[in-house]
Amino acid sequence: MHIFEQIGPLEEYLNSCREDGRSIALVPTMGGLHEGHLKLIDKAKECSDMVVASVFVNPTQFAENEDFEAYPKTLLEDKILLEAIKVDTMFVPLDNEVYPDGSSQDYDVGEMGKILCGISRPIHFNGVAQVVARLFDIVKPDYAVFGEKDYQQLLIINSLVERQGIKTTIVSVPTVRESDGLAMSTRNNYLSSEDRANAPLFYQQLVATKASIQNGTDIPSATEQAEDALGAVFDVEYIEVLNANNLTQITTSSSKIIIISAVRLRETRLIDNIVFRRSHV
Ligand code: PAF
Repeated sequence: MHIFEQIGPLEEYLNSCREDGRSIALVPTMGGLHEGHLKLIDKAKECSDMVVASVFVNPTQFAENEDFEAYPKTLLEDKILLEAIKVDTMFVPLDNEVYPDGSSQDYDVGEMGKILCGISRPIHFNGVAQVVARLFDIVKPDYAVFGEKDYQQLLIINSLVERQGIKTTIVSVPTVRESDGLAMSTRNNYLSSEDRANAPLFYQQLVATKASIQNGTDIPSATEQAEDALGAVFDVEYIEVLNANNLTQITTSSSKIIIISAVRLRETRLIDNIVFRRSHV
């Protein structure tokens, strides 16, 4: 595996790959790699001739009171894993490579970044868009692969690519779950064993809410019931049932629906969602 910390040598290498006619897929990560990331890499391999996996804990997407310092840093394990699954290139940039002119927020993600997770994390999506745009500029990938667990992030990146005319195809991969349904996340490592035992109730409730809507419960009632049920175990930040195409309120014509939620178990914040087609209006 080729490992680069600096942009110059990475660009030189990727240019030579492009000259050889190889297509490139980027999998941006913040490390702490798990089975979910491996599925992104599998998809990247399907799409392209070679995979670049970046590992960069992006400071601009964390607010001061968030877990930037505590975020798992498992670079050695990540390297071993990426090497074992034959990733072509690992890019592990330093802060000053990614943000040579400082890291001021310079990308406005608009309304989509201000709802749902954007309410409790007002700078988060600007930081995500900033780093993703920067990584795209450096790697110039033909494809970039993201997980559907971070659904709001995925839509924001799709809109970034569209608005900036970036020539990268965004590919998404369904959420990978533990056998008990909990969505895989690097932050699951923060859960105590008691909280880990309760955490699957989150997804179970989303499944129950989906069934309830499909059985004809109206959306306001289904949302209220879900909020009450989740509230017995979690601190509920939000649970909403929205149009999955753009995260707006559902109209009778919205057929692709998302149940999307963020909850907390003590200090650990979990997000999850289910997307489905409505068979009942
Ligand atoms: O989803 C993530 O891990 C991060 O938000 C991303 C896309 C790698 C940007 O830092």
